[in-house]
Amino acid sequence: MPALEASLNESGKDKLLKEVEHASDLGEIHYLRQQDPKGLGHAVLRAKTHVGNDPFAVLLGDDLIDESEDLLERMIEVQQATGGSVVALMEVPQEQISAYGCADITVVDGEDYVQVNGLVEKPAPEDAPSNLAIIGRYVLHPEIFEILENTPPGRGDEIQLTDAMQTIADKGDQAHGMYGVVFKGRRFDTGDKLSYLKANIVLACERGDLGPDLRAWVKDFAKDLQD
Ligand code: G1P
Repeated sequence: MPALEASLNESGKDKLLKEVEHASDLGEIHYLRQQDPKGLGHAVLRAKTHVGNDPFAVLLGDDLIDESEDLLERMIEVQQATGGSVVALMEVPQEQISAYGCADITVVDGEDYVQVNGLVEKPAPEDAPSNLAIIGRYVLHPEIFEILENTPPGRGDEIQLTDAMQTIADKGDQAHGMYGVVFKGRRFDTGDKLSYLKANIVLACERGDLGPDLRAWVKDFAKDLQD
């Protein structure tokens, strides 16, 4: 039994022990340190030996999407249906597009996913091909690893996952295809301090345990702010 569980067990903290055990039962966790800050593409490439030759998901932790949303499930279905790579996209106000990767897409008749024709990392609003931003969810075909190995540093002198996905789109039939799922649900960019604070309040207000007291407190606090 790992040290934390053993200590909780010894001190009879059964409720905490159950919570820790539940978290460990969710999956097997392997950690890798990126070592050098050479970009998201480089970070993903570091996971190659753990992933092997299967499609895999990349979830950027600062893009918080509530578990009640089925975005990732939908992306996995699209990956299975198309056999390609799938990126999550979301409409943002045009002036915010320079904070994101941006996609040029074509609607696929009769489907709720789109074909990605091109991707550009953090374009100026006037150069952006659309207002569809890449949000931090990807379900990728393992062909991305070889492409990343051959992707030179791009924007910010970093190896960009966006550039590797652009290569898949460019390759057409020579690759397995690049698709997008347009997300219309709720997302918090917790890499932004204000949005991080809002996420904590909004999601905590919805919880059964903390919600009632927190909502009452927020209302009270807001009254004082109006003075
Ligand atoms: C990364 C990606 C970018 C994407 C964003 C989503 O950028 O490079 O394409 O739009 O995540 O959060 P970062 O936020 O790491 O600068």
